[in-house]
Amino acid sequence: MTTKPVYIVLLGPPGSGKGTQADILQERLGLPHVASGDLFRYNLKNKTPLGLKAKSYMDRGDLVPDDITIAMVLDRLARPDCARGAILDGFPRTIAQAEALDAALADKGLAIDRAVNFVVPDAVIVERITGRRICPVCGATYHVTFNPPKDDNRCDRDGAELYQRDDDKPETVRNRLKVYRELTAPLVDYYRAKAVLVEIDGNRPIEAVTEALLQALQGLLA
Ligand code: AP5
Ligand code: ZN
Repeated sequence: MTTKPVYIVLLGPPGSGKGTQADILQERLGLPHVASGDLFRYNLKNKTPLGLKAKSYMDRGDLVPDDITIAMVLDRLARPDCARGAILDGFPRTIAQAEALDAALADKGLAIDRAVNFVVPDAVIVERITGRRICPVCGATYHVTFNPPKDDNRCDRDGAELYQRDDDKPETVRNRLKVYRELTAPLVDYYRAKAVLVEIDGNRPIEAVTEALLQALQGLLA
């Protein structure tokens, strides 16, 4: 027997905890974590044509154009590990992206099952982003104060030395927040109108947010 694939969209401003929670959900639910930002960073690191195209936008904290982004994510969702669905983190980010995703899913008789919006105040966001550290090997996310690694600046999973993202500088973060408000925040109403929106207070400890998230997703997975 095959079950219907499940698609979960995580919404929220930069630094609201989408990646952190998607990583936890991936383990708990056994669904792949598909993050457009991670896909771009992978391409950037490997200097692919896609990565080179995306670089200038990412460096400024602007969005990469819709056509490039949509093609990249739909291609990722077509891979075999997404056969049961996916946890989407950072995509869609514009109404055009959301419509393209809906159209691609509708072609297969599918739709977004839940869109979860993490609500976090701006002041908290800046503190979170400036303290963020990432593992170059497995992509795990840490925070110097809120979620520190066990060993000084080394990944708990593989011991690799953690790094800070280029676009986590305060001036780029300010632009990312502005872009979020203009282009991405309207998606909250978009998914509310489709009756799949859940809003979660993301300004709580990581475990408390996970708890609320799992409650919001109850009944989705057998
Ligand atoms: P992307 O990588 O998607 O960045 P973002 O949306 O800005 O999101 P972040 O990764 O900054 O934050 P997050 O919500 O995942 O927070 P995290 O869990 O890490 O995009 C980067 C760029 O790529 C964009 O600017 C754009 O150029 C391009 N791009 C990507 N997608 C695109 C698209 N669809 N269209 C066009 N362009 C696109 O948490 C942050 C920190 O807080 C961490 O240190 C974490 O440890 C800590 N933390 C998390 N939760 C908590 C908590 N509850 N309490 C305390 N600390 C916490
Ligand atoms: Zn690691």
